[in-house]
Amino acid sequence: MKYTLVETSDDEKDFGRKAADVFRQSLMKYADPYVALPTGKTPLPLYRQLVEDGAENLPSFSYGQIDEYLGLPAHHPKLFLEEMKVHLLGPLGIKISSSFNSAALSFDTPERDFDIAVLGIGRNGHVGFNEPGSDFNSVTRIVALSAKTIEDNKTDWNEALYGAFPTHAVTRGLGELRSAKSTILLVRGQAKAEILAQAFAGPQCEFVPASCLQAQPDLTIVADHSALSILRL
Ligand code: GLP
Repeated sequence: MKYTLVETSDDEKDFGRKAADVFRQSLMKYADPYVALPTGKTPLPLYRQLVEDGAENLPSFSYGQIDEYLGLPAHHPKLFLEEMKVHLLGPLGIKISSSFNSAALSFDTPERDFDIAVLGIGRNGHVGFNEPGSDFNSVTRIVALSAKTIEDNKTDWNEALYGAFPTHAVTRGLGELRSAKSTILLVRGQAKAEILAQAFAGPQCEFVPASCLQAQPDLTIVADHSALSILRL
């Protein structure tokens, strides 16, 4: 297994700066890159840094969505697409090439492979919403969320404001995410240390979906000191 490790301190600003450098370097490798970008808390320092640096310092690219909750109405504030618009796509004027309609009951597999997949990892090893047990060759599909994922993602979900927490989502499959020519995995915090070590120091196994990334041809892991506390033992 071969990957480039970029270690940051636990300081969000440091993480954001280093992740932004890695991302910009990756964008330079492709003409008109098509890029998957994750939601969640982990990438926020990266997005803040990119917005702070401004559109004039960001090579142009188009965005493709990785995953989305199912059953929420258009423009619901907790839609991943809305969050991406607020944190990154809107401020920098980034073109949306493919996205999911949360209210739809079926989804087509977007046609083009990603040039770059920037990914997060769930505490149970999920990538996108490919939960443990997902086939490494899986494609875009509707999935049931695991109890652990619901517990993790529900922490900032106010039912009075947002309605019931979704039980299902749509996700690009592991097979599609693995088709990306370059992969950047973002990991922050002690809570991810155990799963990061399982994914990259253990065997490839469908019960740790992120372990499928071990075989990626151009993989960079950007992780803070706490997230690396077990992997580097
Ligand atoms: C979420 C998303 C993933 C994300 C992951 C980690 O549920 N489906 O795309 O990468 O879980 O989220 P966080 O960065 O908030 O820990």
